[in-house]
Amino acid sequence: MRFDDSKIEEIKSRVDIVELASEYLTLKKAGRNYLGLCPFHQEKTPSFTVNREKQIFYCFGCGEGGNVITLLMKIANKSFPEAIKYLAEKTGVLLPVRTFGGDGREKESLRDEIFQLNARAAQYFARQLSSPGGKAVRDYLQKRAVTEETVRQFRLGYAPDAWRSLADDMEGGGLSLKMAEQAGLVIAGKEGGFYDRFRGRLMFPIENPFGEIVAFGGRIIGEGEPKYLNSPESPVYSKGKNLYGLNKAKEAIRRNGFCLIVEGYFDAISLWNAGVRNVVATLGTALTRDHLELLRRYTQDVVALFDPDAAGRKALDRSLELFLGANMSARALILPDGCDPDDFVKKYGPGKLEELITLAPAISDYYIDSVLGNGKTFEENRDLVKTAMEFVGKINNEIERNLFIKRIAEKSGIDQALLKREIHRKPASVPSGAGVKKASGGMAVNPLEFNLIRLMLEYPQKALLVDDENILECFLEPVLKDLGSRIIQTYKLLGYVDVNVLLPSDEDKPLREHIYKMSVEAPPTDDDRVERNFVDNMRRIRQKWYKEQKRQVQHKLRQAQESGDSDLIRELTFQKQNLMKEEHKYLNQS
Ligand code: UTP
Ligand code: MN
Repeated sequence: MRFDDSKIEEIKSRVDIVELASEYLTLKKAGRNYLGLCPFHQEKTPSFTVNREKQIFYCFGCGEGGNVITLLMKIANKSFPEAIKYLAEKTGVLLPVRTFGGDGREKESLRDEIFQLNARAAQYFARQLSSPGGKAVRDYLQKRAVTEETVRQFRLGYAPDAWRSLADDMEGGGLSLKMAEQAGLVIAGKEGGFYDRFRGRLMFPIENPFGEIVAFGGRIIGEGEPKYLNSPESPVYSKGKNLYGLNKAKEAIRRNGFCLIVEGYFDAISLWNAGVRNVVATLGTALTRDHLELLRRYTQDVVALFDPDAAGRKALDRSLELFLGANMSARALILPDGCDPDDFVKKYGPGKLEELITLAPAISDYYIDSVLGNGKTFEENRDLVKTAMEFVGKINNEIERNLFIKRIAEKSGIDQALLKREIHRKPASVPSGAGVKKASGGMAVNPLEFNLIRLMLEYPQKALLVDDENILECFLEPVLKDLGSRIIQTYKLLGYVDVNVLLPSDEDKPLREHIYKMSVEAPPTDDDRVERNFVDNMRRIRQKWYKEQKRQVQHKLRQAQESGDSDLIRELTFQKQNLMKEEHKYLNQS
């Protein structure tokens, strides 16, 4: 499908890449740019950079970059036409209607068709809820204290207790039931034809972070099995990758700086309804790594509210490793009196819940208290410490690991140093980034020069320091020298630097990858440290340069001595002395 270029420009001019990216991750302003955790690779410190003036994004970690359209394509998994349509709708730009295919209608992508059918189904269910037939469900919601406002905000609905109600409505509207089957809304019957999947249920539309409906959950009214019926997985829905309520909660998550995770639709709705809005729910699965990756884009602080039963505790134990592996600071909250979050907030109110959240222990403390606290004999305790230490071995973050060891030491009375030795006996699971001499493509790399290039790319505003000091003159690696001068030129010209633009070809790939790699591995630095890193690095490069120059002169000198060329000897000796003087001066002044 082709779109008019002017339409694309019009759309681009009406959207803001910072706003679009913020739908999907939390960005913080950093100078002229906005920074966040990259959605395209796992990272601990933000290197995903969005530039509002240029309307571009670029990740210094993985090298992904582009404009608002490519961003949407990548984070929302949309094709180019899907992205254009989404943005056109959002910005109110009218795309010319074109006819494609034999049926005279525009060909939609499967994903777009499913989104549209789901949106239509949600409207249908909402209408049914407010119709006379929905009275029983409205009463039920009222009984559970869900306000009309909450019903509207979550687009709750009612699927009538009939075999063909949504199906009839859709067919009447000229929609393809074959397609509705792909969306999971209807099921193919034995004699051909389709019937409704959801019958006699309170409907919860499940939105992705862009507000598109990806699936539904339907709760039975009264008794019956299953209590919840959910849409099957589809091209737009995977339960292990979606969190119920996230689209609604993201504002409050940012405001509060943390997110509550609960286990049920009703818990999420009920907390929201009680004014606790930074809440999401898993969708009938245990928490997955994908869930945390999704959440981490908004906040790195989560409080998991687990049900007080054995299953809840087990879920907690399992998620512990997940949280530590994902580098998130998680707190665990098991509610008292056998309450689930819905019961609790009704019984004690949101204030009491907030109080418990504040007091909730870090999930690692919870682990230590609940695991290490239970040993009765010496042997039992020893084994528990062993288990805990095995666990510690899996924590990648060194600070986190040391804290954990400290807590184990306190709890068990075993000396910290001893515990640490115990850990170090096992081979470390963390690969060391030291000693990188070759880039991925087998390219030899001068680590000092390379690091300076990496710094220039990451902090181009400081790249002019390199220019002022003429350090590129001292580069021994011609490729890096050339790249360095192009960085400076580009920055002077455009005010920003993009590796993909500087190194676009396949040939440059090893260099490009090496740059990304070093960027990811480089420890985060604050502003003063950045400058110091530059200065140190430049100084060492120049020292190395002097050393190399002296070596060369020395070499020539030896040759001249062999051939007995006294003019040349004098000249070279002079050069050598000059070099040494210069070096001496340089070392003393810097
Ligand atoms: P719960 O049984 O705790 O449901 O299941 P709930 O959300 O608290 O609902 P109420 O308060 O009983 O009305 C927790 C979650 O597990 C999934 C749903 O996502 C539910 O919200 N679940 C549960 C299913 O998918 N199917 C089921 O049959 C039951
Ligand atoms: Mn419940």
